[in-house]
Amino acid sequence: MSPGDGAVAAAPFDAGTVLNAIPSAVMAIDQADAVAFVNPAAEQLFGVSRTVLESRPLAELLPFDSPLFDLIRRVGDGGNGVSDYGVALLLSRGESHLVDVHVSLLDEVRGDRLVMLHPCSVAQRLNRQLSHRGGARAVAGLGATLAHEVKNPLSGIRGAAQLLEPSVPEDERPLIRLICDETDRICALVDRMEAFGDGKPIERRPVNIYQVLERVTRVSGSGFGRSVRIVERYDPSLPEVDGDHDLLVQVFLNLIKNAAEAVPAEGGEIRLSTQYTHGLSMRVANSRERVELPILVEVRDNGPGVSEEMVPHLFEPFVSSKRAGTGLGLSLAAKIVGDHGGVIEFQNQPRGALFRVRLPAHRAPGRQAM
Ligand SMILES: Nc1ncnc2c1ncn2[C@@H]1O[C@H](COP(=O)(O)OP(=O)(O)OP(=O)(O)O)[C@@H](O)[C@H]1O
Ligand SMILES: [Mg+2]
Repeated sequence: MSPGDGAVAAAPFDAGTVLNAIPSAVMAIDQADAVAFVNPAAEQLFGVSRTVLESRPLAELLPFDSPLFDLIRRVGDGGNGVSDYGVALLLSRGESHLVDVHVSLLDEVRGDRLVMLHPCSVAQRLNRQLSHRGGARAVAGLGATLAHEVKNPLSGIRGAAQLLEPSVPEDERPLIRLICDETDRICALVDRMEAFGDGKPIERRPVNIYQVLERVTRVSGSGFGRSVRIVERYDPSLPEVDGDHDLLVQVFLNLIKNAAEAVPAEGGEIRLSTQYTHGLSMRVANSRERVELPILVEVRDNGPGVSEEMVPHLFEPFVSSKRAGTGLGLSLAAKIVGDHGGVIEFQNQPRGALFRVRLPAHRAPGRQAM
């Protein structure tokens, strides 16, 4: 309608309405580093209401070493506005978010500052996982070389030691066993590296994800996860996954093993859930095609979550915080999911770690790719 139609002229825009509609978290911080104003997106990010947030010192909402303090200080010291991208924002209640941060001076005289926190896109969050694909390829190459150059001679060494066993005095036999155990340990490591594959595309078939998860819970229940309660919440109407059953079992075994190793000895709990989601698609490498990733499987535990220093390196091979860990579990899981065209996302929760695996659905033959 035009004004000439007799319509009432639109009222001037209310700045508050605009601020409330901004999807980024907006906060005003006063000169004493307390929160002076928040918009609804900030309430959502911090998970508490405006009345609780406003007038609270920022130090109560964020850990003392949060990178946000440094950015705010830099602006307060008379600097221009500062921005930092892909900052891991750990909230005091334990949750972590990857955000882009912009801080600028709001009122020069009073020293108030404006902080904008914009959650990084899924693509940026995934970058961490995707950027480690090169690492996975290097492990695959190394695995193949070691299989040839190390595993074969080691089998010879092990065999020779076993032949010597009968002629060695009884009290020296533990040394023979030591040789055998250590060679077995190295062979097992090389086997795990060989699992990174030879770069061939996977053979895809329709896979029932419940059968995959059932197999995984059965294996974990009879072994490493015996004392952990597994809570399953499945969406019964999920379509089949387009993938390789055995490789997907490997993915969820690695995730559940990590979860089982992280939860407390008493009251340990792993929540497994599946869900159909809309709207997330990924571009296939070296192609214009996009693949929808509607099948979401979540693995959630009630352990301490992934430590802050481990988070940026989570999917890198050979990075482990465990005494006997190889650091290959998540790297292999990310590689297999990536080979399926899917993605793994990670988030620390108030209580424990959450891994989300998104996978493509099997398309009935004859249907066109989107
Ligand atoms: N659910 C989790 N909770 C807390 N930390 C985790 C969790 N999953 C992974 N991590 C951290 O990530 C690191 C890497 O995990 P990854 O599975 O790749 O290797 P690993 O478990 O250490 O060794 P491996 O899998 O070879 O036994 C772990 O050492 C641990 O610090
Ligand atoms: Mg592991």
